[in-house]
Amino acid sequence: MNSNIYETLGDEKIRLLVKHFYLNVREEPTLRKLYPEEDLSGAEDRLYWFLLHVFGGPHTYLEKRGHPMLRRRHFQWQIDQHLRNSWMDCMLRAMDEVAMETDIREALMNYFVKVANHMVNS
Ligand code: HEM
Repeated sequence: MNSNIYETLGDEKIRLLVKHFYLNVREEPTLRKLYPEEDLSGAEDRLYWFLLHVFGGPHTYLEKRGHPMLRRRHFQWQIDQHLRNSWMDCMLRAMDEVAMETDIREALMNYFVKVANHMVNS
């Protein structure tokens, strides 16, 4: 199912999703303070490349960042249920900004919930 996501949404909508996600992160102090840099464009690129990859698009992420090891990369932050909810909230609100079919919305939602739950480490 994930591989249909890239085909259906394409680069542009995935980029738009990530852009809105980070606009929301800027407004969410507990989440925002985890990102050390003033400029979030590097983080934006990394999430964008990653989502292209997992949704069935180009493997830019692997070329630039190597194997995702997402949970391990997130060990440097204490991610509890509250932080997970803040992340999900930013992503759900970003999804509202991008026009998409109901089945794709459902697939994205299932994917993000699954991965966000998996990132909880404290
Ligand atoms: C559950 C709460 C989460 C928190 C608090 C969190 C926090 C962060 C932070 C602070 C960064 C560093 C930003 C950067 O410099 O790249 C990051 C990176 C990243 N996050 Fe998360 N994240 C969460 C969940 C997720 C989920 C659900 C996904 C995927 C669906 C994800 C994918 C990524 C990716 C791909 C990177 C870049 C990794 C790299 O290449 O270094 N994160 N995250």
